[in-house]
Amino acid sequence: MASRRALLLLAAAAILCVCAAQCRLAHAWKRSYVVYLGAHPYGRDAPLEEHERATESHHELLGSVLGSKQLAKDAIFYSYTKNINGFAAYLDEEVAAEMAKHPDVVTVMPSKMLKLHTTRSWDFMDMEKDGQVLPDSIWKHANFGQNVIIANLDSGVWPESSSFSDEGMAEVPKRWRGSCPGSAKYAVPCNRKLIGARYFNKDMLLSNPAAVDGNWARDTEGHGTHTLSTAGGRFVPRASLFGYANGTAKGGAPRARVAAYKVCWAGECATADVLAGFESAVHDGADVISVSFGQEAPLADTKSFFHEPVTLGSLHAAIHGVSVVCSAGNSGPFDDTVVNGAPWVTTVAASTVDRDFPNQITLGNNIHMKGMSLESSDLHSNKLFPMVNASGAALPNCSAELASNCAMGCLDPPKVKGKIVVCVRGGDIPRVMKGMAVLSAGGAGMILANGKMDGDDVEADPHVLPATMITYSEAVSLYKYMASSAYPVANISPSKTELGVKNSPSMAAFSSRGPSGTLPFVLKPDIAAPGVDILAAFTEYVSPTEVAADKRRSEYAILSGTSMACPHVSGVIGLLKAARPEWSPAAMRSAIMTTARTQDNTGAPMRDSNGKEATAFAYGAGNVHPNRAVDPGLVYDITPDEYFTFLCALGFTTKDLSRLSGGKFSCPAKPPPMEDLNYPSIVVPALRHNMTLTRRLKNVGRPGTYRASWRAPFGINMTVDPKVLVFEKAGEEKEFKVNIASQKDKLGRGYVFGKLVWSDGIHYVRSPVVVNALG
Ligand SMILES: *[C@@H]1O[C@H](CO)[C@@H](O)[C@H](O)[C@H]1NC(C)=O
Ligand SMILES: *[C@@H]1O[C@H](CO)[C@@H](O)[C@H](O)[C@H]1NC(C)=O
Ligand SMILES: *[C@@H]1O[C@H](CO)[C@@H](O)[C@H](O)[C@H]1NC(C)=O
Ligand SMILES: *[C@@H]1O[C@H](CO)[C@@H](O)[C@H](O)[C@H]1NC(C)=O
Ligand SMILES: *[C@@H]1O[C@H](CO)[C@@H](O)[C@H](O)[C@H]1NC(C)=O
Repeated sequence: MASRRALLLLAAAAILCVCAAQCRLAHAWKRSYVVYLGAHPYGRDAPLEEHERATESHHELLGSVLGSKQLAKDAIFYSYTKNINGFAAYLDEEVAAEMAKHPDVVTVMPSKMLKLHTTRSWDFMDMEKDGQVLPDSIWKHANFGQNVIIANLDSGVWPESSSFSDEGMAEVPKRWRGSCPGSAKYAVPCNRKLIGARYFNKDMLLSNPAAVDGNWARDTEGHGTHTLSTAGGRFVPRASLFGYANGTAKGGAPRARVAAYKVCWAGECATADVLAGFESAVHDGADVISVSFGQEAPLADTKSFFHEPVTLGSLHAAIHGVSVVCSAGNSGPFDDTVVNGAPWVTTVAASTVDRDFPNQITLGNNIHMKGMSLESSDLHSNKLFPMVNASGAALPNCSAELASNCAMGCLDPPKVKGKIVVCVRGGDIPRVMKGMAVLSAGGAGMILANGKMDGDDVEADPHVLPATMITYSEAVSLYKYMASSAYPVANISPSKTELGVKNSPSMAAFSSRGPSGTLPFVLKPDIAAPGVDILAAFTEYVSPTEVAADKRRSEYAILSGTSMACPHVSGVIGLLKAARPEWSPAAMRSAIMTTARTQDNTGAPMRDSNGKEATAFAYGAGNVHPNRAVDPGLVYDITPDEYFTFLCALGFTTKDLSRLSGGKFSCPAKPPPMEDLNYPSIVVPALRHNMTLTRRLKNVGRPGTYRASWRAPFGINMTVDPKVLVFEKAGEEKEFKVNIASQKDKLGRGYVFGKLVWSDGIHYVRSPVVVNALG
């Protein structure tokens, strides 16, 4: 077998000599794979020789299939030797298939591309009021996250940002092993705040070399700087975007140390680089790992559960007691779109904050409409301007559709000069770019209209001319006015910053929703956090509008996405780690989930983007409420062995799991159902008649008597046994059972939602209960 392979390789080499084009073809068979072998038997402090031996064993293992150790050495570009056992190699499909059959191999994953999930936000969560830190603020309890280390796997960091200044910070904690490598010219300068900056690009260099902008951790996109500063940036007063949205930029854990791991290049993150980032962050000593990227679509099934680096890397982090927080994805508002849904990560959805940037459109018929923009330049005037529909102003070389999208070079200057141009959102053209197209054709202003699919979701952008963005229903009345008037006119006012906006938070339309098709037994997302119009630090390499032609630069940018929501929770977990260092990652997630809010600032149930009541599939347990999380009363804890037991129920074998656990674990003869994982939420995705679930609560507060109360989902009978739990000391654990039974006449209604609350009169330990009754 091996010699046939060697012959094949020789043949390939022969082609290579003949012609360069053929050489490409020969290479087209090959791609990057991660060969995953489980965990290493040794710990974090193992001597270097152990790591070298592991590398050697990888060469031998692949060499046994390739026919020579040298060929294996040439093919392997990462040996994971710290906490993940495995290697990444550039291989033929057949070799990969053969590796997968090897008894030492848990799984072989072809490399794939994951995608980035692209000042007021903290104020809004009650941690402070009018710039004053409130007495019961988690910031106080946690001393602002002092000495906690937050790692961010993302597009790198802009180290010169004021958010990463180390003024007044003490020495770097001794336990930290990270560093800021790179040649003199390209190294990212670290300090006592930004204590690590590594880059991983070997997989990307093989898969898409054009995406790699250098051997450095410098952020040339802005995404990584934004997310890292949201999680752990220090307070920077008078931060603004081109002078708009002027306020104090704040990280969740402002005194935390931060470290950047650049694993994403030009918006994409390759499997083997992501795994290398996880391994390094865990080894370096991070307490929290923040991940604002993921698969574009959920994994097809539970079988491919491990064919994904965030799931795998985060499991190793969880085993080592490191919290991993991930974005849920931006594929909402459709069901079954959530990604990063492994039960050992905290999956974060995006909600709005109570800040808006409204401006006003006045139409000739004296009708006013509210729009959204950040732009408030002095280009505005009080007069009414003639209006024109962009679709009717097309140049001959452009389709009406391109023109209606206000594509650059498609608007006929004589038709738009001095007018307010109505452009349609979308067409893959950045919104700010549309304004630039209008300006360059001589337009006086722009109204950006949502299409039907965009609904009510409007964005505030730093446009280059007087501009605003309106909802679909407003667009319909605008078109009506334009059609009815021989000479339609309008005015756009400068935008203002409005605080205390009512019915906030609500769910962002783009935020991915449950249920998790990959793993319906765990309710995902877990929690919602601010992810709309978030002001945070940025790179000075590109414009914050993401438009290449836009030459404006800003130290701060306003971005939206579950990418922005995720680091808010990473910051809160950092604070919890500082305040409650003995808690496990699962305990911290439980504290955040069971204390979350499901009401908005009017006291009404939180709404979804369509105005209807949001469900647990949109926000999980609710919107994060950091001050409460520090004192949840009780937590649902989970040990690494319980995750392994869960994996047994998922079909993994004792052999696989003993590799993952370093040989110590074996599956129970009859693993409990997956619904029994001690998660702070309950979901029964396919209820037949009835089911009894088991949960276990741990007291992390004072002794107390907790009573259960619940609201059963519609058509479901629910009982809890026992209904009272008495905790006599801290750390004590008590079990209870929940019976869920479907009422015969109310089947097949899809998912229905309820809740379970344990309370001692002071703490309310709340879990969402979600059931799909089939029969
Ligand atoms: C931002 O606000 C502060 C006061 O809150 C003011 O001193 C500063 O000039 C403002 N900056 C800009 C760019 O408007
Ligand atoms: C259409 O033609 C004009 C010149 O008449 C040119 O400036 C513009 O770039 C062209 N647009 C496109 C999309 O090619
Ligand atoms: C303007 O353009 C939009 C989108 O292309 C279209 O739906 C609308 O009917 C047009 N209105 C007028 C008055 O032409
Ligand atoms: C649960 O369902 C089984 C049938 O699957 C039935 O025999 C049993 O009585 C049910 N128990 C309850 C509490 O409804
Ligand atoms: C559900 O509860 C109702 C009212 O208590 C009872 O009549 C019914 O039998 C119960 N159904 C099941 C399946 O337990």
